Amino acid sequence: MHSLTGKRAIVTGAGSGIGRASALRFAAEGALVCAVDRERSTVGETVAAIVAAGGRAIAVAGDAGAEEDVAAYFAAALEAFGGIDVVFANAGIAGTYAPLAEQSAGDWLAVLRVNLIGAFLAIKHATPVMTKLGRGSIICTASVAGQRANAGPSPYSASKAGVISLVQTSANALAGTGIRVNAICPGLIETGMTQPMFDSARARGKADRIGQLNPLRRAGQPDEVAAMAVFLASDDASYVNGQAIAVDGGLSSTHPFVPSQRGATKRE
Ligand SMILES: NC(=O)c1ccc[n+]([C@@H]2O[C@H](COP(=O)([O-])OP(=O)(O)OC[C@H]3O[C@@H](n4cnc5c(N)ncnc54)[C@H](O)[C@@H]3O)[C@@H](O)[C@H]2O)c1
Repeated sequence: MHSLTGKRAIVTGAGSGIGRASALRFAAEGALVCAVDRERSTVGETVAAIVAAGGRAIAVAGDAGAEEDVAAYFAAALEAFGGIDVVFANAGIAGTYAPLAEQSAGDWLAVLRVNLIGAFLAIKHATPVMTKLGRGSIICTASVAGQRANAGPSPYSASKAGVISLVQTSANALAGTGIRVNAICPGLIETGMTQPMFDSARARGKADRIGQLNPLRRAGQPDEVAAMAVFLASDDASYVNGQAIAVDGGLSSTHPFVPSQRGATKRE
């Protein structure tokens, strides 16, 4: 018996990075998986990998920030599996990297639509299904960028701070239903979103500088975030609710510091 045996799960952003790793891991733990992504080909590859490994999954192409698409992926999961026990609202975009004064309201809306409203829509559509069951686990991907500055552009950080608030307010709005709502706050993870930064550091021979601001002194891998998603999806997390849990190598536990000065202090 695996930790997600019998669970029926939706994972958005399942075509790449954290979502793909989570869809694979959910299936390996026994879940039936509805994998959703705006990219039809990549989400198809995720499902093919699950099926090749002996799991069961369906692929749905859709926009996590558009309500008609959210309704469609819920309908597809319900039709295929007869119910939904777990929703991992993970799809997200980084958005603009323009300086603050050059950002437009449209730049902000684009990021908030996918990262924050997409998570809200997932919770909204999960609520009636899970309320009927009397249980359910909803997981949203926030970020350490939602906790404080300097882990992403302003609109991205604001969207992720919104996701942290959303899981707190939703857990309380759904009091008495048996539905748990939690967020994961990843630190720096090597995925499609961050690949250009990793590639650039490697091309400059500076790969060893990546992830040096956290006490583990390395970046994370998608599977390390997927492990937390599996835990939150499982009954092992039956009393974990309304939380935003960092998976960041300890990054959010620290104040900013300059490593060379810290060494100098030690020698004094
Ligand atoms: N990589 C990191 O360092 C990091 C850190 C903190 C949080 N996150 C968050 O993790 C989540 C997953 O990102 P990732 O790092 O795996 O990046 P990724 O780019 O590898 O994967 C994101 C996936 O989401 C899909 N997607 C984007 N917009 C979508 C939409 N509107 N509808 C449906 N699918 C959509 C993309 O096609 C892609 O497959 C995001 O919410 C991101 O903000 C990532």
